[in-house]
Amino acid sequence: MPNTEEILARTGGRPLTHVLYSAERIAERVAEVGREITDAIPADEELLVLGTLKGSFIFLSDLVRQIRRPMEVDFLVASSYGSETTSSGKVDLLYDNTAPIEGRHVILVEDIVDSGTTLNRLLPLLDARGPRSLEVCALLHKHIAPDLYREPRWVGFDCPQEFVIGYGLDHSEQFRNLPFIGAIEP
Ligand code: PRP
Repeated sequence: MPNTEEILARTGGRPLTHVLYSAERIAERVAEVGREITDAIPADEELLVLGTLKGSFIFLSDLVRQIRRPMEVDFLVASSYGSETTSSGKVDLLYDNTAPIEGRHVILVEDIVDSGTTLNRLLPLLDARGPRSLEVCALLHKHIAPDLYREPRWVGFDCPQEFVIGYGLDHSEQFRNLPFIGAIEP
């Protein structure tokens, strides 16, 4: 676990409320999820792992190295906009993936499911392209989305109702580089 000095060096002096998940705990859980995904995907069938940028970039890069299957990796850029700390209910698709989806097992990788707006925007769009299967792997799930199009099949951690940063998650585009996940007062 990082000490206070190390945390403040990385946050530019801004204190965290607390560390929720250490780098070691995240690594253990990502390895477990990677094993579960490996077991779920037949070795001779095509797998496409789709990351949602920017938030999933660290989780995805760790996760794909724990999945012992051939795969293609691609990304979508979806961004919600509104205030800095609450989800607005609007999601722009800024970049669409180019990898084919039809007939393949597709795993959409999210860093966090909060209001569910992002998943509810992306999943129908991907489903319409005829994947063999379409599942979600989310590192964090707040379980507050009232009406999710599809529940994530794999979840790293059930996340409390706090403003979480680090390991890809930001506050005003800062703190994505923290190797652990912490909470701050927004
Ligand atoms: C964040 C996060 C998820 C999404 C989850 O992305 O990375 O993709 O919000 O929230 P929701 O369930 O309420 O839709 P954001 O739009 O902030 O962009 P980012 O990935 O670039 O940080």
